Amino acid sequence: MVKICCIGAGYVGGPTMAVIALKCPKVQVVVVDISTPRITAWNSDQLPIYEPGLDDVVKQCKGKNLFFSTDVEKHVAEADIVFVSVNTPTKTQGLGAGKAADLTYWESAARMIADVSKSDKIVVEKSTVPVKTAEAIERILTHNNKGINFQILSNPEFLAEGTAIKDLFNPDRVLIGGRETSGGQKAIAALRDVYAQWVPIDKIICTNLWSAELSKLAANAFLAQRISSVNAMSALCEATGADVTQVSQAIGKDTRIGPKFLNASVGFGGSCFQKDILNLVYICECHGLAEVANYWKQVIKINDYQKTRFVNRIVSSMFNTVSGKKVAILGFAFKKDTGDTRETPAIDVCKGLIGDKAKISIYDPQPMSPTSVKQVACVWDAYEATKGAHGICILTEWDEFKLLDYKRIFDGMEKPAFVFDGRNVVDAEKLRKIGFIVYAIGKPL
Ligand code: NAD
Ligand code: UGA
Repeated sequence: MVKICCIGAGYVGGPTMAVIALKCPKVQVVVVDISTPRITAWNSDQLPIYEPGLDDVVKQCKGKNLFFSTDVEKHVAEADIVFVSVNTPTKTQGLGAGKAADLTYWESAARMIADVSKSDKIVVEKSTVPVKTAEAIERILTHNNKGINFQILSNPEFLAEGTAIKDLFNPDRVLIGGRETSGGQKAIAALRDVYAQWVPIDKIICTNLWSAELSKLAANAFLAQRISSVNAMSALCEATGADVTQVSQAIGKDTRIGPKFLNASVGFGGSCFQKDILNLVYICECHGLAEVANYWKQVIKINDYQKTRFVNRIVSSMFNTVSGKKVAILGFAFKKDTGDTRETPAIDVCKGLIGDKAKISIYDPQPMSPTSVKQVACVWDAYEATKGAHGICILTEWDEFKLLDYKRIFDGMEKPAFVFDGRNVVDAEKLRKIGFIVYAIGKPL
């Protein structure tokens, strides 16, 4: 039986390994983490992350060929294939602060693998890392030269939160990068065999290590760039009377452009797009490619501009001040169908409004941890959040926001009642008929 151990039981490690366990009943999968609360949650009925379909997959395999443990060293030592899926945030201090990826967690995982290993292993980079990380990892793994053969593979993950299980069941592609040596190719084949249990072989792309590492950063940069492009257009739409939804539809019909990922919004969020672009920018700068670095930096600048523009629109519409006014925030997660609020644009919007002394009342369908910020309340119901409010900001495109009784909401609000739709989820005309003043991203007023 092939034994897989995954270091890091987070948004990637948990769902990815659960799907491998489900699709490969003959493989034993152990997900390990240094965080005891996380592992305890994985071992309970209340999983630590919300992801549609995940509960069901975990239920089918947990205790059979899928296990969660804090005994990191034991399970790494026993594994044939070790996935490393630890967090790789942006560095906050020292060289490259604010841009470069912080590989502290990765390095400590690699050192631990080197120390506890007694047999040959394939070590798989699942985390998103700077191009050339595998070279550094190889050096760390072989530093104590115990005669163990380590093969490093890059197997970046492309799942999106909210659709992780769907993406893992039916990925656009699986990417595996490895050394161009016979050992490297054998390792690639071993990992390919795992995915080939459910992924069509023509969707499994095998490349060299650096292409695989860079492709992950490139994919996220291209995706984020599309959003910044459409968001830049949304500003021009508002200035000219064009409608960004119509523009997206018109350009998306061009098969070379394609219809997906063209929804104008308050800005992209999530734990990865900004971090990965900053990482890309830093790598370009390190290679003396200032023009390339500046090109990608602009994607983030437009994203920041979009968030600021949204806050300014709220304040200017509400007679240039929100001081003392209750503003309801509908949706706090960075996108629908996830409880993840890392780097959500809602944080920046709330900060902007608090800066202008607004009182904030937040409702998100996913439970939120209580906040200690005085002007902010988290409530369990959209009607409660909007009661007595002067304005509503829709910041996540949860489906349930389309189905709210907006007449009831209108009746409970101060007048004039404003709606600022940062996701274009509500029918603006219908709301205007009720009496709301509606601002929607990239739409005529
Ligand atoms: P996460 O923070 O949810 O999970 C990482 C886990 O690793 C944490 O539970 C942490 O306790 C654990 N960890 C850290 N160091 C450890 C160590 N030395 N030993 C054992 N456990 C350790 O992060 P995530 O969202 O799962 O992201 C992981 C990586 O995957 C990142 O590089 C990210 O860029 C990439 N990625 C994320 C997504 C996503 O949708 N979140 C998608 C694709 C790729
Ligand atoms: C993104 C990528 O889509 C994944 O392929 C990648 O694996 C992952 O990052 C990662 O590396 O972490 P994720 O951040 O989970 O996935 O979610 P997305 O669906 O990409 O959305 C990111 C942000 O962009 C969200 O805030 C979303 O609301 C926003 N978005 C997305 C838009 O504003 N408009 C769109 O048209 C699409």
